[in-house]
Amino acid sequence: MRDKTAFVTGAATGIGKGLAEKLDREGWRVFAGYNRTPPNALIAACGPSMKAVRCTISDPQSVKEATTEIREALGGSPLDLLVNNAATTANGGGGMENVDLDSFHHLFEVNFWGALRVTQALLPELRKSPDPRIVMVGSPSQYLTIPLGAQYPISKVALAKMTEALRLELKPFGIQVTSLEPNGVATPMTSFPEQERIDLWKTFPEHLLGDYQRFWKYPGEVLGKASASFWSPEKFADVTYAKVICSKKMKPRYVLGPSAWILPTINRWASKSAQETIFEKMFRNS
Ligand SMILES: NC(=O)c1ccc[n+]([C@@H]2O[C@H](COP(=O)([O-])OP(=O)(O)OC[C@H]3O[C@@H](n4cnc5c(N)ncnc54)[C@H](OP(=O)(O)O)[C@@H]3O)[C@@H](O)[C@H]2O)c1
Repeated sequence: MRDKTAFVTGAATGIGKGLAEKLDREGWRVFAGYNRTPPNALIAACGPSMKAVRCTISDPQSVKEATTEIREALGGSPLDLLVNNAATTANGGGGMENVDLDSFHHLFEVNFWGALRVTQALLPELRKSPDPRIVMVGSPSQYLTIPLGAQYPISKVALAKMTEALRLELKPFGIQVTSLEPNGVATPMTSFPEQERIDLWKTFPEHLLGDYQRFWKYPGEVLGKASASFWSPEKFADVTYAKVICSKKMKPRYVLGPSAWILPTINRWASKSAQETIFEKMFRNS
């Protein structure tokens, strides 16, 4: 029997690394996409069948080259699983009043267009599998409004809608698609370094800075508060493997992590005005 095969994007760090290592341990043949961070730690943690593939998902040429590399290595065998994990929050801070549109475009280029680009490129290989699966890594931040940090959740809202469309469109072909929404996993993205706060305030021109600082907190201060209870990427990968990847029939959406139920519950049951009051209380200074 052949080993199952998977491609995980953004696998040199965090959740992607945890998932790639877990799949490798479970006997899958893993292709691990990486961007700038060298995949040395991942290579050291995996067996010899794991193949690191340079894949910058915001760069069409890089995705093309990565696809060719994977297709050639597969040699006609199918790809069983695609995990569209790579994403960025870089330059994601700032107010809608003055957000730099080029930076906002780049964030979408990674978080939205990049995921679609990789999916389109690899669907021919997935179609060869008897049980093809696509896991789009979204975010429960899509249920939040994050003042001065809205760019990233906006991109994840778009990704969630795209995932719903893909799921429905590919159903008749037996290709399963789901949205995996991690909540509170300790990774570089959720470390909220001091530099991020400095960069956020730098986006405001002097005549607006004082007012915005008076009214709004740096979002990382709020979102990083529960970091003591965050899961490790290894724990997240174990749970995801058992609940999502091994499930016979993948559900439309999985929100996994500590207190994962809170945001979807608020989203489902609280009125829009009540939600606005909650978010204002969370992020407002005065
Ligand atoms: N951690 C959480 O609690 C949490 C919560 C909600 C959603 N998520 C989602 O989980 C996924 C993984 O995030 P993470 O927490 O594990 O953070 P992370 O460690 O920062 O992982 C993001 C990965 O994406 C890669 N990446 C960034 N830009 C890329 C590009 N243009 N092309 C290819 N790869 C690129 C990064 O590589 P480089 O560093 O080399 O650029 C990095 O390896 C993301 O989709 C994120 O939105 C995480």
